Amino acid sequence: MAELNENFIKLPGSYLFSTVAKKVSAYQEAHPQADLIRLGIGDVTKPIVPVVIEALHKAVDEMGHAETFRGYAPDLGYPFLREAIAAEYTRRGCEVSSDEIFVSDGAKSDSANIQEIFAPDSRIAVCDPVYPVYVDSNVMAGRTGDYDAADGTWSRVIYMPCTAENGFVPELPKETPDLIYLCFPNNPTGTTITKEQLQQWVDYANRVGAVILYDAAYEAYITEEGLPHSIYECEGARSCAIELKSFSKKAGFTGLRLGYTVVPKEIVRGGASANALWARRHGTKYNGTPYIIQRAGEAVLTPEGDREVMEQVRYYLRNARTIRDGLTAAGYTVYGGVNSPYVWLKTPDHMSSWDFFDLLLSEKNIVGTPGSGFGPHGEGYFRLTGFGTYENTERAISRMQKL
Ligand code: MLT
Repeated sequence: MAELNENFIKLPGSYLFSTVAKKVSAYQEAHPQADLIRLGIGDVTKPIVPVVIEALHKAVDEMGHAETFRGYAPDLGYPFLREAIAAEYTRRGCEVSSDEIFVSDGAKSDSANIQEIFAPDSRIAVCDPVYPVYVDSNVMAGRTGDYDAADGTWSRVIYMPCTAENGFVPELPKETPDLIYLCFPNNPTGTTITKEQLQQWVDYANRVGAVILYDAAYEAYITEEGLPHSIYECEGARSCAIELKSFSKKAGFTGLRLGYTVVPKEIVRGGASANALWARRHGTKYNGTPYIIQRAGEAVLTPEGDREVMEQVRYYLRNARTIRDGLTAAGYTVYGGVNSPYVWLKTPDHMSSWDFFDLLLSEKNIVGTPGSGFGPHGEGYFRLTGFGTYENTERAISRMQKL
């Protein structure tokens, strides 16, 4: 008899954003007149920019003619896109070649799948709070030990608390991990890391032989000078860091789906190359991101595309600022929102994250994300996103000011 995978059975509850979505639909069904404002999941609201739409139309037309039709895409990505991405790195002064870039359907899948090329008994270290995909995908792989329902932790996971006290940048762990997940600008706290701090992580990883899985999905939101846009700005990162990038938050591709992972050839363990293994995994399990989507991605990387998408990024950043300033004026304690679309706030009166979620939903018809859904140290916090429309963001904040 077939048995189901016990690692999947171990997973508590449903995926955070599915739980939130279920709660919101139940509320909407019971209160059809409610004027809900959704600032929960980090999904964009602005349409795809004109230069990208033009590229999509052109690529669609090509698919309708025998001379320009394309079948399976190359499994690692079309050279035109991989080269355009490599050129971006060169412009930033980072050494990344096109054959170290693997095009995919987004950073969520890549951040969930990348663990497959590492040993099954690898110890992982994660920030707490953290984007839930990193931990859940390792639970599915059977790497995380036992779950303690009382404190929401896994016995084999090394948790690195990110709190207001440490500026939401983790300290080096006491136990030595094999894999270290870092995400900056951070989801969910909306804060980021300095180049010096990131360099310490790179030095540490090289010292202990760990690999950093660096999620830079929100890099386009960095507004302050001198902050690292890529981990490859740090010396020595090529021998210890894999970087995950996304077109979703920079160019509104949450529905189109496009991302990529950089696996430098210097990451060699036990004589095997991580680059070669990821290529092997990609080739076996993935048939390539659609041609039309890769052409759309190429358009984002043109000067005109960059101008258009960065205008949208600034729009979302204005929303984040509106949330941050409006809530600060109302007496909330808030973090993030300067180099990130996310604002992380302390729940009022020491309410639990889920109690505050319920209160905001029922009293003010606002949807946010409870901090505890991102890990034990997220308890007592709440995340709002700047990805709504400006009008809704203003309305939500004026409702919260009257809470
Ligand atoms: C989030 O809200 O944290 C993100 O939108 C989730 C994602 O990118 O998968």
